[in-house]
Amino acid sequence: MDDCEDLFKNVFSSFIHGILIVDTKLNIRKSNPALEEMFCRSGEDLIGKPLSLLFPEQPALEDKFKEVISNSASYQLLEGRACRKNALSHFPAGMTLSPLFGAKGESLGALATIKDLSLLKDLESVSRPFERLSTTEALTLGMAHEIRNPLGGIRASAQLLLSDLETSPNASLIQIIISEVDRINRLIKKMMDFSQEAEPKVKLINIHRSLEEIFLLEKETLIAHQITLLQEYDPSLPLIKADPDQIKQVFLNLIKNAREAMPNGGQIRVSTRYHGSYAFSAVSQSKPLLFIVVEVADNGCGMDDKQIETLFTPFVTTKSKGVGLGLALTLKIIENHKGTIKVSTQKNAGTTFQVFLPLPQK
Ligand SMILES: Nc1ncnc2c1ncn2[C@@H]1O[C@H](COP(=O)(O)OP(=O)(O)OP(=O)(O)O)[C@@H](O)[C@H]1O
Ligand SMILES: [Mg+2]
Repeated sequence: MDDCEDLFKNVFSSFIHGILIVDTKLNIRKSNPALEEMFCRSGEDLIGKPLSLLFPEQPALEDKFKEVISNSASYQLLEGRACRKNALSHFPAGMTLSPLFGAKGESLGALATIKDLSLLKDLESVSRPFERLSTTEALTLGMAHEIRNPLGGIRASAQLLLSDLETSPNASLIQIIISEVDRINRLIKKMMDFSQEAEPKVKLINIHRSLEEIFLLEKETLIAHQITLLQEYDPSLPLIKADPDQIKQVFLNLIKNAREAMPNGGQIRVSTRYHGSYAFSAVSQSKPLLFIVVEVADNGCGMDDKQIETLFTPFVTTKSKGVGLGLALTLKIIENHKGTIKVSTQKNAGTTFQVFLPLPQK
């Protein structure tokens, strides 16, 4: 009997989703640690309080709870707007409701299992620009191949002409041909990188080591632009499964964007930490995942609402020498790693990119 009770206690406290038990008057009777973490409240803080503390101003949801209690109905796939401590932040919560009975079959209240859906919703919303992409991708790849060959011929001929005309006053014009051809080549390479099906070649990597390698590459340029780098790492983060080259490309793009957003210098802060809540890796997968988050924050020019709307859309750029593929490629890589990206920005104040990468499952 004791064993059985221990087992139930263990299930209750280690269950990955929140469990909430309310009595027949919709007052909270019990919660598990996952729920307390989700709502940033302690168990003592919750006990005896009304359900509306967690789900304020939602009479429709309360009606569902009442129905469960009075009619022994049960519900799945319900959604509510949940409120963390001190109404500081809200999050979308998914839940199932079941009636709770006593030993004699009398109604004791209702039992709800609750999940924080915020990351899942982010994954859905961020992924949208890519739905428009497949035909563009096919076109891009085909065109890139066709443009590259004649370009090679143009460059080689210009190079030959240059060696003949080295002393001529027109030599600089041929230099322009060569440098412009090189520019088109760079653009095409980016387009091809973007279009090619880049399945990540994953291995266990230390995210801090990858970041350090990037900073080594970028150090001189940052100093030249009077940008200081602040690193705030959580040393306890475990290894992640990722493609080291692709991960480097992601953070190089973000660091480069941050630098370009601060033409008069500034600060880039790169921090790493666990993402505190559980989420689903994708709609189709039911296994919960824990994420790490790497934040790249600058105090540069920031973006307005219109820019945010088209962010991650290929070929959208505000820079005279930009291609507008950096972020699209970055998001594609992170999505291939089953992660996601969140952005917060304020015009003339700065921008923060948060990159979520899943931790390997045990
Ligand atoms: N940290 C940032 N601060 C302000 N604006 C940004 C930042 N990062 C991106 N942007 C905006 O988003 C646009 C798209 O960025 P993205 O990296 O995709 O392309 P790009 O930097 O213009 O060109 P490239 O392909 O060379 O990276 C930028 O042109 C810029 O307007
Ligand atoms: Mg860029």
